[in-house]
Amino acid sequence: MPKSGALVLGVVEGCQLTSIGIEIDRLLSGELVKGISTNPSFTGKKNTSLILNGMVGLDISRIILVGLGNPADISKLQMQGMGATAVSAVNKARDELAGIVIERPNNSPITTEEMVSEVGLGARLAAYRFDKYRTQIKDKEKPSLKTLTLMSEGISTYEKAFLELQHVADGVYLTRDLVSEPSNIKYPSAIVKDIESLTSIGVDVELLSEKRMEELGMGAILGVGQGSRRDSYIAIMQWNGSPKKDDKPLAFVGKGVTFDTGGISIKPSGGMEEMKYDMAGAGTVIGLMRALAGRKACANVVGVVGLVENMPDGNAQRPGDVVTTMSGQTIEVINTDAEGRLVLSDALWYTQKTFSPRFMVDLATLTGAIIVSLGTYQAGLFSNDDELSNRLIAAGKASGEEVWRLPMGARYDRDINSEIADMKNVGKGREAGSITAAQLLERFVGETPWAHLDIAGMAWMKRGDDPSVPKGASGFGVRLLNQLVRDHYEA
Ligand code: BES
Ligand code: MN
Ligand code: ZN
Repeated sequence: MPKSGALVLGVVEGCQLTSIGIEIDRLLSGELVKGISTNPSFTGKKNTSLILNGMVGLDISRIILVGLGNPADISKLQMQGMGATAVSAVNKARDELAGIVIERPNNSPITTEEMVSEVGLGARLAAYRFDKYRTQIKDKEKPSLKTLTLMSEGISTYEKAFLELQHVADGVYLTRDLVSEPSNIKYPSAIVKDIESLTSIGVDVELLSEKRMEELGMGAILGVGQGSRRDSYIAIMQWNGSPKKDDKPLAFVGKGVTFDTGGISIKPSGGMEEMKYDMAGAGTVIGLMRALAGRKACANVVGVVGLVENMPDGNAQRPGDVVTTMSGQTIEVINTDAEGRLVLSDALWYTQKTFSPRFMVDLATLTGAIIVSLGTYQAGLFSNDDELSNRLIAAGKASGEEVWRLPMGARYDRDINSEIADMKNVGKGREAGSITAAQLLERFVGETPWAHLDIAGMAWMKRGDDPSVPKGASGFGVRLLNQLVRDHYEA
């Protein structure tokens, strides 16, 4: 037990003490039971905690109780919540050391190793901070927790299980870092540098320069970037972990608009700074590649990101311009602020033609309308494939990163027909804005099973009420897609 640190105990709803709890209560001459009964508002609800100070009789600073919720739903997610809630409670109590006791009930559907590892993952996810630009930060503003010890009975192999999840946490951290960075630091070529550093963990990286994109006829992505002083790129990351080397890959495609001013259809200035996170789809794909390669996933996976800055300028694209995509299809650009779909049209077509993937999942902060539909609790899912959709929905429930499927179809598709080109980049007024955006993407996926995740409401958390997702960049999608790969596509 950590000397003079906090001792963290899990408590199920109703505050029934476990055998270890009873033992500790005895060592504390009944103080624990007394503490619980004098704080009746703490009932052991999920993601709640109770700090009990003044515990004498053990060499600890205090006891922190963490609510586990219903004992019947012991799950990986519940364990993550335990670790995450523990971290915030320990920081609130300002302890540097803490030990957390993890007990496996007899009827638990998951093993002790899994329970311990998931607590560790939750703790890591909760401990994320992005304060590299806060040079004047005071010690008392920093989190106090330095070391968290996971304590459990009868485990010997948990380190391997935790190591795997540590790679997932590293992926989430990378995504959160990329998304948190301001756009004067992480412009397209800067993100390219970060992508290139993934070669050290076995990811192959290839770049398409503007010149190459011109040769390939990618007029849509190039049009978006043409008002920016920064060069645009498509970056391709490959992880070949399948024992069958020529297995068709799984493909993940991300929108990487490093800043979205709206272009000539410029956005209002209020809140425009938020558009630094318009590259979160790409950030998620990059973090996912890091997680998969880090844990040496037994699958061939390709990640493709379109990196571009959407700026107004003397050379910027105009409303009414018509661009020709790599597919040969033409798009009338009614609104230069509907740029994400333009970026993805070329990225999706390229991915599908180059790799013939088993499926493509794209991620994009694509529409404000999805925030109107689903708020900040679930991402929008659009797909041409029921099996892939159902797998994503299930992976969402298991990982805690949930998705909700919305309809698509011929009538919505008709709404993006143009008088002058094959399609236009907006639908009818404000009607079904997220769906018509997805319809445009679908025109670039061919026969490939495909799903589009609109993460505009999920990439940046203002709420901060999920203990494993601190305020700010969430890293949404890394856990979800790691789960998808793990559940269905590993040898
Ligand atoms: N990047 C935005 C969408 C967005 C909005 C992301 C809020 C995150 C938070 C996207 O490029 C955009 O501007 N979409 C327009 C589309 C419209 C012009 C058809 C929108 O949602 O208003
Ligand atoms: Mn936009
Ligand atoms: Zn955008």
